[in-house]
Amino acid sequence: MMEKDIQILAIESSCDETAAAVVKNGREVLSNVIYSQIALHTEYGGVVPEIASRKHIEKINQVIEQALSEAGRKLDEMDAIAVTYGPGLVVSGGHSHLVIVKDYGEYEIIGRTRDDAAGEAFDKVARAIGLGYPGGPKIDKVSREGDPNAIHFPRAKVGDAEYDFSFSGLKSAVLNYLNSCQMKGEEIRTADVAASFQSAVIDVLVEHSMNAVHKYGYQKFAIAGGVASNSGLRSAFEKACEKEKVSFYHPSPVYCTDNAAMIGTAAYYEYLKGVRHGLDLNAVPNLKLGERA
Ligand code: KG4
Repeated sequence: MMEKDIQILAIESSCDETAAAVVKNGREVLSNVIYSQIALHTEYGGVVPEIASRKHIEKINQVIEQALSEAGRKLDEMDAIAVTYGPGLVVSGGHSHLVIVKDYGEYEIIGRTRDDAAGEAFDKVARAIGLGYPGGPKIDKVSREGDPNAIHFPRAKVGDAEYDFSFSGLKSAVLNYLNSCQMKGEEIRTADVAASFQSAVIDVLVEHSMNAVHKYGYQKFAIAGGVASNSGLRSAFEKACEKEKVSFYHPSPVYCTDNAAMIGTAAYYEYLKGVRHGLDLNAVPNLKLGERA
């Protein structure tokens, strides 16, 4: 007998994107609608939570209707509605995690950032070199015209924890470099600063990840989160994984930054495990990866 299809309407509104998707059996994305508020927050140089939450309320019904209509489905055909209620991506604006994925929804974090997340460092450095918000994509683009070896920025190691990250020293090194150029009246080559900074982030992420792959003997490596859409990072991981003979999995960029399709996929496996919540479910800003409310 054919198993019944499970169709999930997923909603993601944890930051500055209002997104809804319809996902069938955890794998088939029937629609993936993303309303980005980025333009709205650009003039403030970052996400303003109060504005973000108002805009979510304004847009959510329209985004959901569009997701259902693009999927050719009605609300009452949905088996479940899934919502983001906690943070969790790796290499994103809020996290830089190195994670062993044991099963769907079962994670062991073996490395984390001690201070800034990788995306946060991208955003702060972009602001400092005048590229503005959102920093990651802008640094990514400008870096293509710069020399990644022009300036040597530090590749921080966290002494007692091999897989942990620290990006705040790198950010300070960039700020110091900019100050010293200004004091000496030297020209600041934005593309070189961007490319050299990006290369420092990439080196650290790749080195820690490949060390972990080696030590634990894994054959598969995947990246996720906003920074995972960085073109330099993707090609560096491609090369490193090829060298290590490890399969490399990278979602297309639209599935790296905030989107509801990933929520629909994660929710499918939760649904199969029988996890359900009531309408009183609230957001848990400090929820740990793999934990449930
Ligand atoms: O996962 P994500 O969309 O959302 C949250 O963390 O909420 O990640 C957003 C982060 C931002 O810091 C943004 O600057 C960074 O991902 N990002 C990038 C790129 N695209 C987005 N960083 C580097 N290169 C990119 N192409």
